[in-house]
Amino acid sequence: MDDLVHPVTAEPALVDPFGRHVSYLRVSVTDRCDFRCTYCMAEHMTFLPKRDLLSLEELDRLCSAFVAKGVRKLRITGGEPLVRKNILWLFQQLSRHLGDRLDELTLTTNGSQLAKYARELKAAGVERINVSLDTLNPAKFKAITRWGDFAQVMAGIDAAEAAGLSVKLNAVALKGVNEDEIGDLLAFAHGRGFDLTLIETMPMGDIGEDRTDHYLPLSIVRARLMDRWTLEDIAFRTGGPARYVRVKETGGKIGFITPMTHNFCESCNRVRLTCTGTLYMCLGQDDAADLRMPLRASSDDAPLMDAIDEAIARKPKGHDFVIDRRTKQPAVARHMSVTGG
Ligand code: GTP
Ligand code: 5AD
Ligand code: SF4
Repeated sequence: MDDLVHPVTAEPALVDPFGRHVSYLRVSVTDRCDFRCTYCMAEHMTFLPKRDLLSLEELDRLCSAFVAKGVRKLRITGGEPLVRKNILWLFQQLSRHLGDRLDELTLTTNGSQLAKYARELKAAGVERINVSLDTLNPAKFKAITRWGDFAQVMAGIDAAEAAGLSVKLNAVALKGVNEDEIGDLLAFAHGRGFDLTLIETMPMGDIGEDRTDHYLPLSIVRARLMDRWTLEDIAFRTGGPARYVRVKETGGKIGFITPMTHNFCESCNRVRLTCTGTLYMCLGQDDAADLRMPLRASSDDAPLMDAIDEAIARKPKGHDFVIDRRTKQPAVARHMSVTGG
């Protein structure tokens, strides 16, 4: 495999046992969030003690190690990434890789802090952001997010647009909650020139209720949308798991992320780093590698690079999201907020 090395750093490329190149790193910079979305968290969560977190300098060093090994897309997630103190500094540091070794530096956010940060994110080289928005009804928004404020998120989205960031909206499709509103979300998003991605709810972490109650397969949503709109298949891909169609009437795109009904793992190009330096090689599996120890063991990156290679060699073939019907326990014990989706 001598030819599979990074052209500049000469580091061995990240290729897993199934021949998939890992070119996308998602980094959860905090497990904390200022919302408590019902499908994501229980209302009373115990978060990691702050002393367990990697510093922003350590996160920069870790991300840069992945970039040296050929990662070309970095997505900052959480929890809510913008609630981490001084987070802008990390974006500003990581932007030094843009253009040369890195194609994209981006984030997924709930939008609550965007009014404050949108301009500076754009100035730090962020071009495109994903904002979670499951409803356009303020009362329903409160019911879903528990602690969120709809007007604040709308102001955040406006600020992002005004700053010149391109926005994609993410909506989790929830039976009996927002299923009657998906067409309106689509009209809103496309009316503003935003793409929209719909997501099937995944069984991750204890949320204090039975999530099968709200599970809605996107095949049903898609069929319903076709009563109102013309959906045209297109080849467009972002490097993420969504499959996109164009809506003829609006000209906008809608993506479907279907981890529960279709497997997209054969083209998986990503791994996930948590704020404590744990690397998850798959969102839907528990196996993980500790990178904090090799990171802290030496200021020389060699042990860290070896630990990353060893982890990628263990990347599993795919996820297997099933809820145990008897115990109703989620397939994956950790919450989505640990790895940021
Ligand atoms: P784009 O770059 O815009 O394609 O982003 P993305 O869809 O990869 O990222 P985003 O953070 O917006 O994630 C949207 C949803 O996709 C989240 O609910 C993620 O959990 C889910 N998702 C992203 N990657 C994977 C994956 O590898 N497996 C599964 N099952 N879900 C994923
Ligand atoms: N299933 C599916 N999507 C989820 N998200 C959070 N928890 C879940 C879950 N259990 C979504 C958020 C956000 C993205 C990062 O993940 O709404 O858009
Ligand atoms: Fe926070 Fe996102 Fe989870 Fe909602 S889905 S509680 S915004 S991390």
